[in-house]
Amino acid sequence: MSALSAPEIQILPATAADYEEILAISEGIYTGLDYLPLRYHAWLKDPQRRMFVAKSEGKVVAFDSFLLVDGGITAVLQGLRVGLTMRGRGVAGIIQKFTLDTLHSDHPDVIRIRLTRMKDPPPAILDKYQPLHSKAVIAKYLSADELEKELMVLESRISSERQHFSPPVFLDYSEVHGLFSGPLKEEDLLPGRFLIQAWLPIITCKANLDLMQHWRVRWLCSYPCDAVHKKADGSMSKEDNISVSGTGPSFVAFKGFLSLGTPMFPMPSGDGKHRLDIDLFGTDLPCAKIHVLLQLKEAVKALPSGGSIICIIYAEESLRDGLTGLLDGFPPFLWCREQVVLELVIKDRTST
Ligand SMILES: CC(C)(COP(=O)(O)OP(=O)(O)OC[C@H]1O[C@@H](n2cnc3c(N)ncnc32)[C@H](O)[C@@H]1OP(=O)(O)O)[C@@H](O)C(=O)NCCC(=O)NCCS
Repeated sequence: MSALSAPEIQILPATAADYEEILAISEGIYTGLDYLPLRYHAWLKDPQRRMFVAKSEGKVVAFDSFLLVDGGITAVLQGLRVGLTMRGRGVAGIIQKFTLDTLHSDHPDVIRIRLTRMKDPPPAILDKYQPLHSKAVIAKYLSADELEKELMVLESRISSERQHFSPPVFLDYSEVHGLFSGPLKEEDLLPGRFLIQAWLPIITCKANLDLMQHWRVRWLCSYPCDAVHKKADGSMSKEDNISVSGTGPSFVAFKGFLSLGTPMFPMPSGDGKHRLDIDLFGTDLPCAKIHVLLQLKEAVKALPSGGSIICIIYAEESLRDGLTGLLDGFPPFLWCREQVVLELVIKDRTST
């Protein structure tokens, strides 16, 4: 460790007055895709969230926060950052220790901590946290000038695959609340039975669904159907009156598909780029493609004129090549290739 030691760092609750300094230490992180500048003030008002700054000689040098989810039994760590000139000196370790100490002392109901990281988290994290699931990340740039044309290209690329299932439908939140008590099964679509909504790993309990309603997350659903016929080229067609049991290997039940579209927000660069996160759940490629298109088209309705989109798609690894093919020719946005959800169980549920 360097000359900088713990006593030189003071950890305090973050306040509105820290905003400018937090912006300053955040410059350039996540290749400009940082969400904190836009969310900071709303986060401060959120009773489920605690936010901290580390100060050295009175200046903000680091930020960290946690959000209580899953009805208060899980804390998700979010937003950790250390100013460029202070990195590599143990500051992240100091502020994280304070965050976790606060969590333990003030929130004894919390039984687990989750966080989401880009590919290959540092060994120090893997020593403490268990990887739960990872997803492919595909990021593309859709420029304002090309947007209309690009949507038409997408339409034409998937048009041949559209007839296989009944069209996906956007759900209102009364439908979202009942979603997994019908034919759609959580265990079929959600590995580990949790959602990852724009990097936030959460279970599908009512409290979390209410949060997503508040954030105006769009749910798009393709309902399961009895049986589909897998054609030689790998695509599927729906067959009526076919029982899955007793049929050959070319018949498979279609288990449904789900996607979440997080409302776009302008990127800190201020040049009209808007970030759109689309989380996909399920493994059916034709469905994944239609969901991407429909989520994009829905998002575009709210795009200010002249705005462009950085579209970030999160999908099972098996869909990476197919989705990359769908977006072939669209300029890539250079970011991470993978998101990894990690968990640390801090308390046995039975002991609470
Ligand atoms: C990642 C980052 C916060 C590390 O800051 P740092 O002050 O250089 O890190 P330190 O010198 O304290 O590194 C050591 C400690 O930080 C932890 N750490 C390092 N990278 C981390 C990461 N990505 N997530 C969580 N903890 C991390 C290490 O586990 C270690 O903890 P320990 O002391 O308890 O063993 C800093 O490089 C940064 O701000 N990067 C840009 C934003 C970012 O990538 N944030 C993390 C994802 S949200």
